[in-house]
Amino acid sequence: MRDDGDSERYPYLSSLNAAQLRAVTAPPGTPLQILAGPGSGKTRVLTSRVAHLVKKHKYKPYEITAVTFTNKAANEMRKRLKVLLGEKEAGQLVLGTFHATCARYLRRHGSRIDLDNNFAISDADDCKKIMSRLLKARAEELAQAHISLKEGVVLNDISKAKAKGESPEGMAVRAAKQEVGSNVLAVIAQLYKEYELALRDAGALDFDDLLVFGLRLFKEHPDILVKCLHILVDEFQDTNTTQYELMKCFARANGGVSVVGDPDQSIYGWRSAEIENLDNMKRDFKGVDAIYLEHNYRSTGAILAASHSIVSQDAKRIPKNLYTSHPKSTPAILKQFATPVIEASFISTEIKRLIAYSGGLLNYDDFSILLRYNALSRVIESALQKDGIPNRIIGGHKFFERMEIKDLLAYLQLADNPNFTASGRLLS
Ligand SMILES: Nc1ncnc2c1ncn2[C@@H]1O[C@H](COP(=O)(O)OP(=O)(O)OP(=O)(O)O)[C@@H](O)[C@H]1O
Ligand SMILES: [Mg+2]
Repeated sequence: MRDDGDSERYPYLSSLNAAQLRAVTAPPGTPLQILAGPGSGKTRVLTSRVAHLVKKHKYKPYEITAVTFTNKAANEMRKRLKVLLGEKEAGQLVLGTFHATCARYLRRHGSRIDLDNNFAISDADDCKKIMSRLLKARAEELAQAHISLKEGVVLNDISKAKAKGESPEGMAVRAAKQEVGSNVLAVIAQLYKEYELALRDAGALDFDDLLVFGLRLFKEHPDILVKCLHILVDEFQDTNTTQYELMKCFARANGGVSVVGDPDQSIYGWRSAEIENLDNMKRDFKGVDAIYLEHNYRSTGAILAASHSIVSQDAKRIPKNLYTSHPKSTPAILKQFATPVIEASFISTEIKRLIAYSGGLLNYDDFSILLRYNALSRVIESALQKDGIPNRIIGGHKFFERMEIKDLLAYLQLADNPNFTASGRLLS
């Protein structure tokens, strides 16, 4: 399998295991699914495959599109590719999230679908304000019909519709067919329509629109993508229908497509991720090759055994193995506590105990505490503080969600696009 000539000429191949090597060097024209568990080098393989397309197959970097699920992953990938390809070439790759990639094409070619290229992007807060205004305007009508709707619920339904490519009209038709809750869905369909008009009036797109409008652009003007020879998608298990359709547009021109994903790791079910996209791809592309990566480089044997015993309870799961060269190490422990305060105090004491027990091998920054939601952090923070354990909260309020940053951005957007009043922020 290993081509020694190639390994010498392309040094990034030498650090790959046999399955990873097969994935990176698979013929570019073969639609490829790289399926693997966590920490098995999926992102490393995707990055090396991009490098290989450029170095061996002589693709120009701008002929390759690589899509990730977070900006952080995109930055990480670009950083690795700068090392493999050099600053200039890495800079020419089309590399980003689905949203950022669509935004980039829409800024350049939006006029072809009658979209001003200086459109504003409305964030969750802006969208909530629009919906709140629309709901207020209908307050009486809704009260009479005994329908109570919250902004978040309506926006969530609209977002789900957009993820499936359903228009307000499509939703209205679905409402008419529905036996239970038909009147509520009919109202949401009307709100969806008004919401779209409000966004258009404000010269704005919401996050989902970036994908919906991007898809419209590529479907109506496929010539825009003729230069794309290969599309690579990271975390494919999290794509929704609209994102899958986008991928098909990118792949259609020249047929090159590679995806990596872990069917067990789909964390966006609540955001309309379609695990079926793995099967859809087998149906839509001829001769799909699936390669499994089974060597985990991140976790101990005990952690793999614990996670395997959880995910293998899913009867519909695609069976795949994962082994690690790390030792088995200490087992995972499940503990239950009577109150959050007792739990927090246990966590804090346990961190101190492990540091003392390791004789200085472990430091405070070797520990992470994962929370199911932010509100749980307060009790734990105070317990850590009481024990003098330094800590920082990751998540919380993001930079672009801070009040002062949002105000500043709204001013800049208004200067760029005088129609932008969606947030109501500046007028108030
Ligand atoms: N062949 C290899 N030899 C040594 N280390 C490797 C190899 N492949 C991957 N790794 C290391 O394993 C870790 C996980 O790699 P990577 O992030 O690519 O995995 P992943 O499958 O994308 O993980 P995730 O499930 O979190 O997305 C990294 O530190 C990477 O450098
Ligand atoms: Mg990864």
